[in-house]
Amino acid sequence: MTKRAIPILLAAGALALAPACGKKNAAPKAEAVETAAADIAPAAAGVSIGTVPLGLPALAEPADNPTTTEKVRLGNILFNDKRFSSTGEVSCATCHDPAKAFTDGPLAVSEGINKLTGTRNAPTVVNAAFYSAQFWDGRRPSLEEQSGDPFLNPVEMNLPSHDAIVKIVREDSSYQTMFAEAFGVDPAAITIDHVKKAIAAFERTIISGNSPFDRWRYGGEADAISEQARRGFDVYMNAGRCVSCHTIGETHALFTDNKFHNVGIGFSKIANDAEKVVGEFLRVAKTDQAVDEAVLGDAKISEIGRFAVSRELQDIGQFKTPTLRNIAATAPYMHDGSLRTLKEVVDFYNTTISPHEDQKQDPNPFQSGGVRPLNLTQTQKDDLTAFLETLTSPEYEPAAKASLAGQAKIKPVK
Ligand code: HEC
Ligand code: HEC
Repeated sequence: MTKRAIPILLAAGALALAPACGKKNAAPKAEAVETAAADIAPAAAGVSIGTVPLGLPALAEPADNPTTTEKVRLGNILFNDKRFSSTGEVSCATCHDPAKAFTDGPLAVSEGINKLTGTRNAPTVVNAAFYSAQFWDGRRPSLEEQSGDPFLNPVEMNLPSHDAIVKIVREDSSYQTMFAEAFGVDPAAITIDHVKKAIAAFERTIISGNSPFDRWRYGGEADAISEQARRGFDVYMNAGRCVSCHTIGETHALFTDNKFHNVGIGFSKIANDAEKVVGEFLRVAKTDQAVDEAVLGDAKISEIGRFAVSRELQDIGQFKTPTLRNIAATAPYMHDGSLRTLKEVVDFYNTTISPHEDQKQDPNPFQSGGVRPLNLTQTQKDDLTAFLETLTSPEYEPAAKASLAGQAKIKPVK
């Protein structure tokens, strides 16, 4: 993180993470391997436990994994540990980089070990704690469950099993101390569940509100956003109908209905052989791990979307409504990273054709009913884009600037 972000984090009471970690682990410097966790720089991210930034609701935590300072500190180090990949080069933070609002822009789809590419765009981890299911297709019900998958996926971290991780943390003296503090366990009693819980606890502190929009809508600051952005808000709520899926409430806004829709992205990739692709998926998808490998390993299977979870034909091509918070910092967009700029996103929504109105122009029989062309004027489109740019939290403003600058470099998909 940049210098700028630090006062904000401190203001929010987030001093816990970085400084405490650094001090705690600086002391023992015996063998390199044993002290490796001590050398990992934690991300300076997150707010203090229990703090609710302006514009967000209170965050629930699972009864069996309460968020504690010790756990969050440990989770932060685990999130940044590259030893949990087969090449020793990839950590969670490789694809969820705090400096890029916890994404890997400008990549359209993520790169794991040996630069192997997956099929999907890395969503931000910021505010992921508020989703009722994780991943674009919601195939994991919780942050705890989600965090086990990347370690094993062959195009991500590619470990043969979770045992490799357990071995490392049991033998690393810094980890021994941190697991004892977080969970009260002896090294021999550490399991992968502890690892997953610590990572999830860390992620529950990566929440972020207090954007210009929040200050305007919920903080009573009439001038926190420009007049153009205020006009854009009107487009968002009315002519653009964005709010019907990217919801905004009376006291807070998550910008997601936590549901799945087919807005029409990517379907052309399987338009001619959807049946065959579904058949191939069903043939291989015998376990949760096999599903994870199939959807991230095969560009066509990726496009079945929510079907991978529900196995209902009408769910083909449905993806989770993503939050729009910090959207200016996380280009490119959509589950396949196929839209490079917010302008392209707005153009996409403006011209997408509903199958119910013109089958010939869009042969996507699965597109969600509410999606139809908007016929917005150029001014309305510009206003809407300006509104979307007000959703950046102060700590991700540098990331938004960098994302904007990097958009020209994003390679078009296919
Ligand atoms: C190689 C890049 C890569 C690595 C490494 C990686 N991720 Fe991800 N992450 C992704 C991609 C791509 C997705 C979306 C996959 C999907 O939806 O099918 C994702 C999705 C997620 C989500 C779901 C967010 C949402 O909006 O649904 C979370 C949470 C997450 N990752 C956390 C982690 C954690 C924790 C680790 C380390 C254990 C990790 N990731 C490692 C690329 C990566
Ligand atoms: C029918 C529900 C629905 C409506 C209406 C809708 N969206 Fe979306 N939005 C989604 C879904 C679902 C996705 C993910 C689609 C995908 O990747 O295939 C998405 C993706 C996005 C993304 C990309 C997010 C990211 O992290 O990549 C942006 C930006 C966006 N929508 C903005 C808008 C705007 C602006 C409007 C109004 C013009 C709008 N949406 C209307 C459901 C909707």
